[in-house]
Amino acid sequence: MPANPSEAAAPYAGTAATGPKPMTLHRLRAMRDSGQPVAMLTAYDAASAALLDDCGVDCLLVGDSLGMVMQGHASTLPVSLEQMAYHVGCVARAARRAWVLADLPFGSYQADAAQAVRSAVTLMQAGAQMVKLEGGGWTAPVVAALVERGIPVCAHLGLTPQSVHALGGYRIQGRDASGAQLLQRHARELAAAGAAMLVLELVPSDLAAAVSAEYPGICIGIGAGARTHGQVLVLHDMLDITLGPKPRFVRNFMQGAASVREAVQAYVRDVKAGVFPDEALHGYAA
Ligand code: KIV
Repeated sequence: MPANPSEAAAPYAGTAATGPKPMTLHRLRAMRDSGQPVAMLTAYDAASAALLDDCGVDCLLVGDSLGMVMQGHASTLPVSLEQMAYHVGCVARAARRAWVLADLPFGSYQADAAQAVRSAVTLMQAGAQMVKLEGGGWTAPVVAALVERGIPVCAHLGLTPQSVHALGGYRIQGRDASGAQLLQRHARELAAAGAAMLVLELVPSDLAAAVSAEYPGICIGIGAGARTHGQVLVLHDMLDITLGPKPRFVRNFMQGAASVREAVQAYVRDVKAGVFPDEALHGYAA
C-alpha cells in the first residue's frame, strides 16, 4: 500500500498528489487573461519531452516539423499520420505537466471533416490533448466539427508550411493590406468555430499583435514579434542543431548555456519575462 493512497488511485500520469499540477486549457486561458506568456517548444521523443517538461515548458508541440528535423525531408509534406501518432505516444508518455498538442499532417484532414475527425481521434488516442491544423477559410467548418466532438483545436495561420509550394517558399505572410485583412478574417472565423489556440507564423509583429488583441483564445507566435500570448520555436533550431539555414527569428539559446537544460531554462525565462523575442533582432517589424 503506498504511503499516500491517492497516489494509487490517481488515474493519469501527473495527477498524483506529489506530481506537478498538469496544464489544462483552463489554466492556459487563465495565463493569457493574466498576461503570463506561454512557453511552447516542439518535442518528438520521450527524453526531450521529459527535459522540457521539467524545465517548465508549458506546451509540447509534436510538430510535423519532425519530417525535416527527425527524418531529413525538405518539407513537412511526407509525414504520415502513423508517424505522427508514434511520436505523440513517445512525448505523451514522458510529459507530466505540459499540455501536449500534435499536428494533423498533410493529407490527414484536407478531404473533409469526417477525415479530420478520424485523424484527430488517432492522435488523441496516442496521447495528444489538442490537435493543430493549418490554414483559414475552408478549415473553419473542420475546426467546428472537431470542437463539437470534444477535440480541442489549435489553428495555424500566416506561413503554413504544408502549403509551402502554393506560397512559393518559406516567406513572411500578411505584409500587404489585403493579405493582412484576409488573415484577420480567417482568425475571426477560426475563433467563431471554437479554435482555442492559434499559432501565427512569420507575420508582421503589428498584425500578430492586432490578431492577438481580439482573439478570444491563446495566440502563440513564431517569427511574429513579441506581442502574442506566447511563443513557440522548433527545439532543434533554438539548440542550433538545425539542418540547413536557420530562420532569422530564431535565437541560439545554446550561446552562454552550459547544457541543453540551461538553454531550455533560458528560453522559458526569456519568454516569460517578455525579452524573447526581441523584435529588433528576432521578430518581424510591420
Ligand atoms: O511543425 C511545427 O513544428 C510547427 C511549428 C513551427 C509551429 O508547426
